[in-house]
Amino acid sequence: MTRTEDGQARGRAGKAHCVCPWWLGWFLVCPVRRVWQDPRAILSPYVRPGMTVLEPGPGMGFFTLELARLTGPEGRVVAVDVQPRMLEVLRSRAAGAGLATTIDTRLANGPSMGIEDLSAAVDFAFAFAVVHELPDAGAFFEQIAKALKPAGRLLMAEPRLHVRERDIAATLEAAARAGLLEEARPTIRGSRSVLLAPASSLRAAAAPPRDRFSRRS
Ligand SMILES: C[S@@+](CC[C@H](N)C(=O)[O-])C[C@H]1O[C@@H](n2cnc3c(N)ncnc32)[C@H](O)[C@@H]1O
Repeated sequence: MTRTEDGQARGRAGKAHCVCPWWLGWFLVCPVRRVWQDPRAILSPYVRPGMTVLEPGPGMGFFTLELARLTGPEGRVVAVDVQPRMLEVLRSRAAGAGLATTIDTRLANGPSMGIEDLSAAVDFAFAFAVVHELPDAGAFFEQIAKALKPAGRLLMAEPRLHVRERDIAATLEAAARAGLLEEARPTIRGSRSVLLAPASSLRAAAAPPRDRFSRRS
């Protein structure tokens, strides 16, 4: 990855990737957004008390606080962003909501999310409006694939307005190379959303049940 003079990152294909300016984070946490994209409705099918959740690109935490409410104090949410200012506001919002001890904020170092300690520990990863900002989606999916438990899932949602279906197809190819395959297409307003699962868990689900009575004795 290289950086241009305007600070934008260029990925392997030489394409420029814009990172959401930090001040836009204030619009993304506007309460009115809940009418359009309700965090509880979007997240509750996937998150249970006690889970370990990874949220790359949380911004100021529109979804993070709800993730922490759903995991409860016995679970944890690891929120990794590349912009310190986003994380500062997220920490202050988490403290105000009494959720600071459930949320672990981390500053990403370029393509590395610094989540090596989470190997096979994550039940659910949630990337909302972030994958199109990454200069190297392949490196991102590799890190997620390592972090997920075998039964873990990644829910990726990309903004419908500026991410086209053919971009999603290319993104899914990168995910597949890292061993993450499409399992479902949940409906989330204004988004193109895909639920991804480790290939091994989909193979196990597709295998016919063992019939112990069919074996010859
Ligand atoms: C459009 S905002 C979405 C924020 C939040 N997910 C939401 O929906 O409200 C994208 C976020 O991804 C973060 N981001 C961009 N590149 C990143 C990277 N390489 N690693 C971690 N976070 C990144 C940005 O700093 C920004 O906070």
